[in-house]
Amino acid sequence: MLKFSHLFSRFFKDKEDEPELLKQIDRTKLPQHVAIIMDGNGRWAQSKGLPRSAGHRAGVETLRNIIEACVELEIKVLTVYAFSTENWKRPEAEVRILMNLIVEYLRKELDEMHRQNISIRPIGNLGPLPEEAKKELFRARETTRNNTGLIFNVALNYGGRKEIVEAAKAIGAKIEAKKMRADDITEDIFAGHLFTAGQPDPDLLIRPSGELRISNYLLWQLAYAEFYYTGVYWPDFNKAELLKAIADFQKRSRRYGGLA
Ligand code: FPP
Repeated sequence: MLKFSHLFSRFFKDKEDEPELLKQIDRTKLPQHVAIIMDGNGRWAQSKGLPRSAGHRAGVETLRNIIEACVELEIKVLTVYAFSTENWKRPEAEVRILMNLIVEYLRKELDEMHRQNISIRPIGNLGPLPEEAKKELFRARETTRNNTGLIFNVALNYGGRKEIVEAAKAIGAKIEAKKMRADDITEDIFAGHLFTAGQPDPDLLIRPSGELRISNYLLWQLAYAEFYYTGVYWPDFNKAELLKAIADFQKRSRRYGGLA
């Protein structure tokens, strides 16, 4: 009960902080693309004596709120790391829980996301995912294909190195077929062969839960991103935390190798 009231008081404290935090945000200097490594679900659950699955379920709630916040702020692209190529190493039961959560989430949220003009783009090698998950992901992608609001990339069975290798293979195949010359390859051409083709690169990468790693995430696209780390576990991350990250981002001097 004590823990519960602590959770609630934290939630309301953060809710109270939102208007103040919003005032600190310069709406003309928002990041165009926010990338997030949703980390700390397991530790959040463990800290509360709950099973890891409860952490993932709470993490899905956070995701719902962060998508809502990005729509409100009119951020162009949100990319979340939901399942990496390395996450298959987890116990089968946990993998099943994560896949089921994705199915459940899309079944419940797709209509509302479509209404909010969100374009859902699964990125990664979806082939090995369970059939049910693939079905819901393809349905979500097709239903929202022509939407013009927030682009929501959900990275599943995603690995940054693999993405780069696949892009290199696709370009190599075009060269073999004499549709392109090696000399034609530019950074823009290369980027056009990635899952994020046509999208601005992430300018802000958020990693909660205190880890300071990139974990094979968007390796090409993050070249000039500003990193924001926080010790807050993903299930405790919320709109106020997102606003703090954006306020911090807006204080950075982005020089791209040049001078201020
Ligand atoms: C990292 O926490 C989290 C994941 C590997 C999964 C994130 C997935 C979700 C929040 C659900 C995705 C759902 C949808 C709808 C896209 P961890 O388990 O590694 O936590 P730990 O490091 O504390 O153990």
